[in-house]
Amino acid sequence: MNFQELLNKAKKLQTNAYVPYSNFRVAAIVILKDKKEVTGVNVENASFPATICAERTALTQVITLGYQKDDIEALFLITDSNSLGSPCGICRQFMAEVMPMTAKVYISNINSKDEKDIKIVKVQDLLPFAFISESLKGNNK
Ligand code: THU
Repeated sequence: MNFQELLNKAKKLQTNAYVPYSNFRVAAIVILKDKKEVTGVNVENASFPATICAERTALTQVITLGYQKDDIEALFLITDSNSLGSPCGICRQFMAEVMPMTAKVYISNINSKDEKDIKIVKVQDLLPFAFISESLKGNNK
């Protein structure tokens, strides 16, 4: 993983975030096993709950392009924070659906200069004991 290159791309991508309400710019880059990268930014809405986070923007595009869960290697995230960012609960649930539980999430922020400033977690660490498709099975309907 070339973190320097990812950081540079993510910082540039952040400028595309549509954030008239929070001014909090987030960008996500999904890294696929075929080495392609699929990007997303947060897109806000005057009806606040209609806002979509950068992670979900990128992951919905991955699915739209015809990729599947096992095609995903990792997700690189950059937030506009001074402290370490962290994906919201809805994005964690979304990741648990469309990413392998063992896929890595790289979390950086505006102060990240290189690999040592990036936190690495797995999807399963972000959402332990997740409610997933198997959880729906066995209700006899
Ligand atoms: N946001 C993301 O895009 N991803 C995160 O992981 C955290 C929050 C966005 C949603 C909203 O546009 C802004 O950040 C403030 O919550």
